Amino acid sequence: MNDVARFYGRWADLYDRIATAPGVARWRRVAAGRVASEGDTVVDAGCGSGGNLPFLRERVGSDGTVIGVDLTGPLLSRARARVAEYDNVWVLRGDATSLPIAEADAVLATFVCGLFDDPTTVVDRWCDLVGPGGRVGLLDATTTDQPIGRPLNPVFKAFVAAGSPTSGVEDVLSAPFDRFDGALSRRVGASRAALAERTVGRRYEEFGLGFVGLASGTVAQRDG
Ligand SMILES: C[S@@+](CC[C@H](N)C(=O)[O-])C[C@H]1O[C@@H](n2cnc3c(N)ncnc32)[C@H](O)[C@@H]1O
Repeated sequence: MNDVARFYGRWADLYDRIATAPGVARWRRVAAGRVASEGDTVVDAGCGSGGNLPFLRERVGSDGTVIGVDLTGPLLSRARARVAEYDNVWVLRGDATSLPIAEADAVLATFVCGLFDDPTTVVDRWCDLVGPGGRVGLLDATTTDQPIGRPLNPVFKAFVAAGSPTSGVEDVLSAPFDRFDGALSRRVGASRAALAERTVGRRYEEFGLGFVGLASGTVAQRDG
């Protein structure tokens, strides 16, 4: 078991509560709407406790398929319980950076790209998986540039450090002065840049005073 799975496994209950709070649910519904259509096969990469799965199921309907993939056992159990009523929603243990799935119409990843060492390669793989015409959506939290939210950036940085699988108390205390959000912003920025490189019809939407951003697009045909 790696650090990420150990960390999320330990905090599974608390994480599930935050992940299913009403405001967060609204962002999830919008994100599902940007990637999934009736009859699609959609992958929720790093699905956690399954907060996106009911919204994706709502979009694909009874003819589509939704597949959640995650590494963390206790979160996967919650995800399975959350979608037990559906016979076309599957929850698998697997690595989102190298999905154990041969074909899909869309990939959604929410609050995940900031955890990857090489988000550019991962987003590229997701674009390859869905192919030209497929959809990819990335919902992530970073510091905000909106004037109304900016005074809260140091609080956000401390929150990010507290929620990081590799941080300790000293890291949380020093976080307002940058370390963790620096890595998060770089990774999220790299994932959005990779998506922009591969897609057309892109949208970028902000929520929660600009702390949360949703980037989405349709994978373009590759030249040559
Ligand atoms: C912040 S949580 C987000 C969970 C979920 N997407 C959500 O929006 O609630 C990050 C999730 O990514 C998962 N994760 C991180 N790296 C992963 C990987 N390489 N493969 C699969 N899951 C991964 C963790 O287990 C955790 O469930």
